[in-house]
Formats: sequence, structure tokens, C-alpha cells
Amino acid sequence: MFSNSLIEADRRHLIHPVTAWRGHEARGATVLTRGQGMYLTDGDGRDLLDAFSGLWCVNIGYGHENVVEAAAEQMRRLPYATGYFSYASEPAIRLAERLATLAPAGLDRVYFTQGGSDSIDSALRFIVHYWNAKGQPTRKHVIALDKGYHGSSSNGAGITGLPAFHRLFDLPHGWQHHIPAPYGYRHAAGDDPQAVIAASVASLRDKVAALGAENVAAFFAEPVQGSAGVLVPPKGWLAAMRATCTELGILLVVDEVITGFGRTGPMFACEHEGVSPDLMTLAKGLTAGYAPMGALLLSEEIYAGIADGPDNHLPIGHGATYSGHPVSAAVGMAVLDLYEDGILDNGIARAPQLAAGLATIAGHPLVGDVRQAGMLAGIELVADRATKARFDPALRLPDLLTRAAHANRIIFRAFADGTIGLAPAISCDEADMDELLARLTATLDDVLDRPDVRAALR
Ligand SMILES: Cc1ncc(COP(=O)(O)O)c(C=O)c1O
Repeated sequence: MFSNSLIEADRRHLIHPVTAWRGHEARGATVLTRGQGMYLTDGDGRDLLDAFSGLWCVNIGYGHENVVEAAAEQMRRLPYATGYFSYASEPAIRLAERLATLAPAGLDRVYFTQGGSDSIDSALRFIVHYWNAKGQPTRKHVIALDKGYHGSSSNGAGITGLPAFHRLFDLPHGWQHHIPAPYGYRHAAGDDPQAVIAASVASLRDKVAALGAENVAAFFAEPVQGSAGVLVPPKGWLAAMRATCTELGILLVVDEVITGFGRTGPMFACEHEGVSPDLMTLAKGLTAGYAPMGALLLSEEIYAGIADGPDNHLPIGHGATYSGHPVSAAVGMAVLDLYEDGILDNGIARAPQLAAGLATIAGHPLVGDVRQAGMLAGIELVADRATKARFDPALRLPDLLTRAAHANRIIFRAFADGTIGLAPAISCDEADMDELLARLTATLDDVLDRPDVRAALR
């Protein structure tokens, strides 16, 4: 048990990301002290099964000594090397080369960032620079999906299509637009896959026509919309959006910050449909959360457009002190070794066990929909399975779920709309997956047993 002083110091000084600040103060922090495999230990010494890989990032699980060693060794030898003034470090070069080899065809140029938000922000900056350099300065508008999440930088948060990131932040900007998400369970086109794809294609075409194609720079999308509640589009959706962007002459940015590095099965979700975007954003699984790092991959066309633009003897004014940080890059190399030495295969082998568990959970009285892509899943809870009506927000279902989960010693994401997000380590073994499903089911049962929840159920 921690002394109250630590919790008090947190209350007084530490601002937590994406929380109601006063609500957090009232609740107090749950301090995590250790991690091993799929399990975290809290300040009371309780083991918590992490079914969310931290924040969809610790894909390899906790406690890999080879990753720790790689970081320590790099820190001893060279803890920092700038990428400015044409300096470089070996790990950054090797990791860039390796990502270019692994990534979808054509994405050979790598800019390292500090995380996913920075990857998106860098993509935006390079896109503006690219179109200006190509002599098409009117291309300023960008389009993304409702409920999409593209980080919380001052521009990226407006591409994000979640109201919490806009409210009182004066977002989205006038040049940022959203089209309906391919959300089969609640899509106006119904859950016919072809109709959902056709509706997305039509929405993108209509939006581009309304803005004027000559004014549109890019379309941003996640292959699976994680923070939207794990919305898995129908097979063929990403390829159709790729083809539509090409037809309309706009750039496609695929945000693989969650879906990259085996989360949906292959190294990148783009591989499911043979899609090569013009730009691809990465983070999270790149270093499995062991050190902060993201990456932005560019096609040769974008790279050359910028490199060979007007006055190209002048510097391209985008950079950061920690771009290509050698310790993070060394961690990334060690993590990629683990993916390639069996963890990716393990994730592919484990996903059917998760699917079987979800099929059972789909019958639970609280569950309206289950969605899955590899080791990524969403469970949407509804008050009425027939009408798909959600619970009244006054019930504060996400808080009830989080508390019941803690009591059952499991960590998952409880989204504001009552959807549960799961992203277990892709290294998860059979016994841990059984345990995860058991604790999850116990949590759902406990929430269902509450009189206020029972009373709200139709
Ligand atoms: C798809 C996607 N893009 C971007 C981000 C932002 O990444 P970060 O939190 O590392 O800034 C996230 C974070 O969850 C994400 O899910």
C-alpha cells in the first residue's frame, strides 16, 4: 500500500491525459509498480491482468530482458545523438532501413517522431509543404472519419473525430472535415459490407466534390478505428478508399499507430488488402511502449516532391531534438526481433481463441455487438439489444465497468459510449487468454447484477 502522500502528490501536481481533472482528483490514482508478462502490479500489491497492453502498445508484454539490455547498452555507449547537422546514430539508420523493408511497397522514407500525435502532426506539415512545393497551394483541406482518432496535437486533434478532443478547444478547424465511419452495427447503409463500402466511397467523393478536388490535400484513416470503439470496416474497405483517393487525386494517409506491428495479424493492417498508402503513421508497437518513439513513412513521390521543391538548398523546417533517438531506436530494433522471432505468429495463432471467447460473450444480456481484428476487439454494450439503444449516460456505465474490472483484476478500456476495448499483448499464451476471458465475463456479470443496470436494461 502506498502512503497517502504519493496519492496526494498526484492529486496536487500530476495532470493525467484525457481525464476529467476534478473527477480524477476525487478518485485518486491507481499507481502501477511492476509488470511481468501480461500482468501489472498495483500499489496494493494486487496482480492485474492487462488486457489492453498499456494503451494498445505493449504488444510483447512486460519484462523482456533483451529489450532492457538493448536500451541499457545503447545508453552506455551513446545515450543521445542529434539528427540535425547531418549527424546520425546507427540504431536510427538501421531501424529506418528495416521499417522501409517491412512496410507496404513504396514507403521507403522514414521520419522518426516522438509518438503517434507527432507522427500525424508531421504528416500534416509535410503534406502542406508537398502541395505547396508542387505548385498546388490551394490544396489545404483534409478529410477524415467520424470517431477517428489521430492524436491530440493542435492540428491532429481536429482531424480526430471525437467530440472530447474538440470541445472548448476551438476544433475542428475550417479545413478539417469528417465523413461517416464504416460502423456496420449502426451504419445508415445497414450492416451489408458492400453497402457500407459503397457509402464510404460515396461520402468521400461527395465531400471532395463539395470542397473542389483542387482544394483537397488528403484523406486520413485508421484501418480499424481503435478509439472509436474498435470499429472494424468490411473486408475491401481500405482498398476501396485507396482506389478512391487515387481516382480523386488526393493523398491517402493510413494511421497504423494501433494496427501496426501485428495487432491485427500481419506486421501492418494494410497488408490484409495489399494497400500502399502515400503516407503511413506509426508509434506504440514500434517500441512496444518500452521507450517513446513514432515514425512517419513517406512514398518516394512525397519525399521527392519536398526534396526537389523550390529553393531546395534551404532546410525543410521540420524537426525535433529527439527525432531518431538512439535509445528508442535500439529498443525498436530489439522489439522487431521479438515480433519476427515468433510473437507475430503467436498473435495470429491466439486470435481464434479470442474469437471463440467473444462469440460466447456476444450472448451476454449486456452485449449488442462484438468486433474483432486479430488481437484487437470491441464489445459494445447496449440497454436494448433489439433497438441497439445505449445506456443513459447518467448511469456512468464506463465508470461502473472500470470499477468492476478492477475488482476482478483485469484492465481494459471502457469507452464513453459503453464499448469495451481489448488489445491484449500479442504474445499472450493460451492460459492467459483463458484467464482474460474468465475475468472479463465475471466483470460483465457483476455489472449486470447491479440493480441500477438491471433496471435500465430493456
Ligand atoms: C490511431 C492513432 N493515431 C494516433 C494516436 C496518437 O498517438 P500518441 O498517443 O502516441 O500521441 C493514437 C493513440 O492512441 C491512435 O490510436
